[in-house]
Amino acid sequence: MSEQNLLEKIVSLCKRRGFVYPSSEIYGGLANAYDYGPLGAELLRNIKDLWWKTFVHEREDIYGTDGGIISNPKVWQASGHTESFNDPLIDCKSCKKRIRADHLIEDELNIKVEGKPLGEVDKIVLENKLKCPSCGSVDLTSVRKFNLLFETSLGSLEEGKDKVYLRGETAQNMFLTFQNVVDSFSPKIPFGLAQVGKAFRNEVTLGNFIFRTFEFEMMELEYFVREKNWEKYFEYWKEEMTGWLTSLGISKDKLRWRRHTEEELSHYSKRTEDIEYDFPFGGFKELYGLAYRTDYDLRQHTKFSGVDLRYRDQETGEEFFPHVVEPTFGVTRTALVALLDSYTEDGDRVVLRLDPRLAPYKVAVFPLLANKPELVKKAREVFEDLKTEFHVAWDDRGNIGKRYYSQDEIGTPWCVTIDFQTLEDDTVTVRDRDTTEQERFKTSELVELFRKRLE
Ligand code: GAP
Repeated sequence: MSEQNLLEKIVSLCKRRGFVYPSSEIYGGLANAYDYGPLGAELLRNIKDLWWKTFVHEREDIYGTDGGIISNPKVWQASGHTESFNDPLIDCKSCKKRIRADHLIEDELNIKVEGKPLGEVDKIVLENKLKCPSCGSVDLTSVRKFNLLFETSLGSLEEGKDKVYLRGETAQNMFLTFQNVVDSFSPKIPFGLAQVGKAFRNEVTLGNFIFRTFEFEMMELEYFVREKNWEKYFEYWKEEMTGWLTSLGISKDKLRWRRHTEEELSHYSKRTEDIEYDFPFGGFKELYGLAYRTDYDLRQHTKFSGVDLRYRDQETGEEFFPHVVEPTFGVTRTALVALLDSYTEDGDRVVLRLDPRLAPYKVAVFPLLANKPELVKKAREVFEDLKTEFHVAWDDRGNIGKRYYSQDEIGTPWCVTIDFQTLEDDTVTVRDRDTTEQERFKTSELVELFRKRLE
């Protein structure tokens, strides 16, 4: 299977089986916008819940928060996003397509130019006679800065002063609630704030399904440390991020860390490293980012708001701006990688070998024959029992082989079949998605069995 073919197969499976649909399709859709169907919604929820459990509930040093999408517009001036959150944009004069110049250069010439001065980027486009990827024209505008923040307006504010922004990152919420959390919980440094939520960017995109969209979700941590310790925690979070991905079963050989060049660094960062995945479109690309934001944000908000956001050490009385190490995990990119990495074909059997914790359904329950009321009745009992604890699928259509294949394709780890022997000894078969092996268990053992397997 070719790499590009793999993406096409995932896109098709996602639509057919209810993971991801093109947005507003009945109106002709909207480029780079998607809606998540019943199985996609489960996958996203499972990723977020597992992340929250791992990085908030199972730790004592991280506090979960949930800030608003719209905040005072001064937040984005203070954070530097209104000034510096830009992409280099060119327009095709022939077909009017908006093109991200650095991506065009990277795709055509395999050179990284992110962060380079616009004049330099322009020169590379001209000297290499780069063409519009859509219509092939070389009649392109020169490169200009394009701000990624989405603007909207609030009705209630004074005329002309109503412009607000949809958040471009969840991070700012956590710098804004930093002092509130310190007041409420008196955490000792180092400690972190966590948030999961949507972010919005007016991206100049080149597609690739849900890899880059205008609206996406991120799972983000701001970890506050003493300046002298930042490198130690940077290394620590690198390991945590790698560990999270490998715990989900993502292939190690498809992951690598890449350090940003000086020019590439965001305006707030002194060091950034991306964990990249070997995607079937153009190879290694950013999956997650880890940034050392210094004390930039707390200082900026102190300067712009006039409120002193320094941290006070309760024991020594020392006051200082904590430094920040920021691990950011894209939810939608995690979903895409989970799908790509788990897709396998075995003859005409398609299997999503998803980590069971991420699988939309944990178990499927089938009566062997749908026209035998006694089997259906018993199967319904098993189904009702399991569904109080797990997300369970019910299927009584077609033959049993087809039902297994259908569950394999959406990643359901276990299928339970109620057959005639069940009526005699109260045992059922449990079929494993990955090995296709079947074992018999007592119906009374099932909840505990799946609970254990999901641990
Ligand atoms: N607060 C830091 C920050 O926002 P970022 O590298 O701009 O850093 C973090 O974004 C993560 O969010 C990325 O590593 C990626 O997983 C995800 N992400 C960024 N832009 C995205 C987009 N347009 N569509 C989907 N995911 C995106």
